[in-house]
Amino acid sequence: MLTGKNILLGISGGIAAYKTPHLVRLLKKSGADVQVLATESALQFVSELTLATVSGRPVLTDIFTADGNGHDNARTMHITLGEWADAFVIAPTTANTLARLAAGLCDDMLSLCFLTLRPGKPVLIAPAMDGHMYDSPSVQRNLSVLAAQGCRIMEPESGSLASGQCGLGRMPEPESIIEKLMQLLEPPAESPLKGRTMIVTAGPTREKLDDVRFLSNYSSGKMGFAIAADAARRGANVHLVTGPVNLQTPPGVERIDVESAAEMLEAARPFFDNCDLFIGAAAVADYRPETPVEGKIKKNDAEMEIRLVRNPDILATFATSRKLGQLAVGFALETAGGIDYARKKLVEKQLDLVAFNVYDGRTSGFEVDTNALTLLGRDGNITELPLLSKEKAAGKLIDAIEPLLQRR
Ligand code: C5P
Repeated sequence: MLTGKNILLGISGGIAAYKTPHLVRLLKKSGADVQVLATESALQFVSELTLATVSGRPVLTDIFTADGNGHDNARTMHITLGEWADAFVIAPTTANTLARLAAGLCDDMLSLCFLTLRPGKPVLIAPAMDGHMYDSPSVQRNLSVLAAQGCRIMEPESGSLASGQCGLGRMPEPESIIEKLMQLLEPPAESPLKGRTMIVTAGPTREKLDDVRFLSNYSSGKMGFAIAADAARRGANVHLVTGPVNLQTPPGVERIDVESAAEMLEAARPFFDNCDLFIGAAAVADYRPETPVEGKIKKNDAEMEIRLVRNPDILATFATSRKLGQLAVGFALETAGGIDYARKKLVEKQLDLVAFNVYDGRTSGFEVDTNALTLLGRDGNITELPLLSKEKAAGKLIDAIEPLLQRR
């Protein structure tokens, strides 16, 4: 329900505007108060009188002729409305209105109130236009600009279009728009991660051969950073211990940069005692050169042998020495057919959960932006996730960890 919610409904000039009186009716029926902001072209498709009657408020279009609408000061009504609104729905959104919103123009009440809306209030945009227009680089660019600003875009639906053609471009039905709006206005459930302390390791390690060379791997750190970002968003205090990567520190995350596995262990160790959760997403080198050479190793005609010794296992060090109630989660990157190794790792390292991913060099594993994880729980639960962006995969992993934390 939308009881007590104040909704700004922006309507721009597309044929789908004929559905908006029904949208207003449904919003009102759900308990919302609705202020319609229609562009001049919108009123070519739907009557002002109809919209005013169903919303119970005058329709606002032009900045200078808009009447007081019950507000104290008509000249600053756009500001009052920006404060008043709990959400802004723009349906249908034409290519022209999209472009004006993306550019920050404000030459009518719809675009003006888009700028005065208070930060953090949801904006739901339902584009509706011909499919080719929708796919055009300009429209797609404007959509990405608005999405990057935090606006939620509802994909147009496929079906018969006003042009007589069939394809993508229809405005979603008012019922779907209302359902989406309700989701956006629902307060997010409090995460069990809120206030918890966690360590995330990320990226590769570098193991020195001499002062100018090292052994390492292709890890980009993207998975670990995505996990740290997601957990911080849910309210966790995150210590992110990372090998050398080229990534921005996610907001609210404490980042510690290290090079070698030994340094990673020493940087993470001070947090062991007081953390609730350790996620080992780093691709820690298993071996390091026994004695790194000072300066630069000189070449000669002979073959060279380098003796490697084992590195400490950071995750296992934590997992086997942890106190009751602390959770340990690891990754297992294997080439095809490695799920049994992953299961073995779960047992040997005494983990609560292992995220198994197949390295295929293309879509999953190192460097790429996507990952297909299979989550193996200590309780025998197996969850196979599809190929997802690393951000989404991180969210799913944290979703799976939350109930484990709650049980503690
Ligand atoms: O044994 P393997 O390297 O496959 O285990 C992978 C998991 O263990 C990852 O979670 C990784 O971060 C962690 N690990 C570690 N220290 C090591 C090796 C692996 O923390 N030396």
